[in-house]
Amino acid sequence: MTKDLFFDQLLQGECIDVMKGLAGGSVNCIFADPPYNLQLKGELRRPDETVVDGVNDDWDKFSDYQAYDDFTRGWLSEARRLLDKDGTIWVIGSYHNIFRLGTILQDLGFWILNDIIWRKANPMPNFRGRRFTNAHETLIWAARSAKSRYCFNYQAMKALNDDLQMRSDWYLPLCTGKERLQDEAGLKLHPTQKPESLLHRVLLASTRENDVVLDPFCGTGTTPAVAKKLGRHYLGIERYLPYLEAARRRVAEVEVLPSEKLAITPAKREMPRIPFGFFVENGSLPAGTYVYDRQRRLRASVSPDGTLVSGKQRGSIHKLGAQLTNAPSCNGWTFWYFEREGKLYPIDLLRQETHTLRQTA
Ligand SMILES: C[S@@+](CC[C@H](N)C(=O)[O-])C[C@H]1O[C@@H](n2cnc3c(N)ncnc32)[C@H](O)[C@@H]1O
Repeated sequence: MTKDLFFDQLLQGECIDVMKGLAGGSVNCIFADPPYNLQLKGELRRPDETVVDGVNDDWDKFSDYQAYDDFTRGWLSEARRLLDKDGTIWVIGSYHNIFRLGTILQDLGFWILNDIIWRKANPMPNFRGRRFTNAHETLIWAARSAKSRYCFNYQAMKALNDDLQMRSDWYLPLCTGKERLQDEAGLKLHPTQKPESLLHRVLLASTRENDVVLDPFCGTGTTPAVAKKLGRHYLGIERYLPYLEAARRRVAEVEVLPSEKLAITPAKREMPRIPFGFFVENGSLPAGTYVYDRQRRLRASVSPDGTLVSGKQRGSIHKLGAQLTNAPSCNGWTFWYFEREGKLYPIDLLRQETHTLRQTA
């Protein structure tokens, strides 16, 4: 294989070998859902003696912890070589492997940014009743190094969470229903197919349009499918051909959203510096319009010079907001609301809409 990176492909093979053929620094983000090393001994049965359809495949078997750690160090070293200097990696795992993954990530020089708890809305019960029900998996999000100027779409995450900061505990269902790929017998094709909702959040948080996303253990192709949908380039690696073929079929069916539909809430620092007066001049909030606080307890009128007036007090959007609430300071963009079709919206929305228009023009 050449050292060129082939975008938008799913490749078959041992991930370390395939990664060795790819050019260093050519990937922006990696999502890796590696073998868990569950160390299952025999079948797991429910109280009614039916067999639990869990992970008991050869790909998950390692002779001991040392073998698992050697393998982990091998693929994570290649992952680090492939990442752009500002790139990030996500690894997902359970208590069986996540601590080993975390230690090796740190040993190799990655810089951990967050550990995310994916709390499963519909976990598998604990059949033997001798432990707590295992109801979550952990994702570690790490930058290539402590110096990486990594991508985090903070505003988009906040928007996705009804305007509240996105927290590190995510409540999402397992992959079920139509999304779950089936084999010819109608049984689940893959024991650990991840839900698209999880990848949607991961990729929306940490990548930009046209970034390159690599999944070295792509299984049924969840990461490439979501990456394609979101207008990111993808590269998937999978050892087991039946999974790979199913993943290829799945990804081929995905339609890419057109670029103008992919724009997300921009980061504040990427927003143009637009003075409030711009919206008075261009008629979005003409002089005489009223703006309100969120609860409509306060009201101010927009002046032709972009100041706000309430009773005898006049000032900029920030100054008047601070004066009226007796606060030392106030972000007028998020404090004041304007009315559109009977509903209130923060005036910051006007800046965001202007930015989106400029992006797609
Ligand atoms: C935990 S599953 C990933 C499932 C995937 N995230 C999905 O949503 O379908 C791990 C996958 O890695 C594959 N695999 C295991 N070891 C591998 C290796 N050394 N190289 C490439 N693929 C490997 C397995 O066949 C399995 O499909």
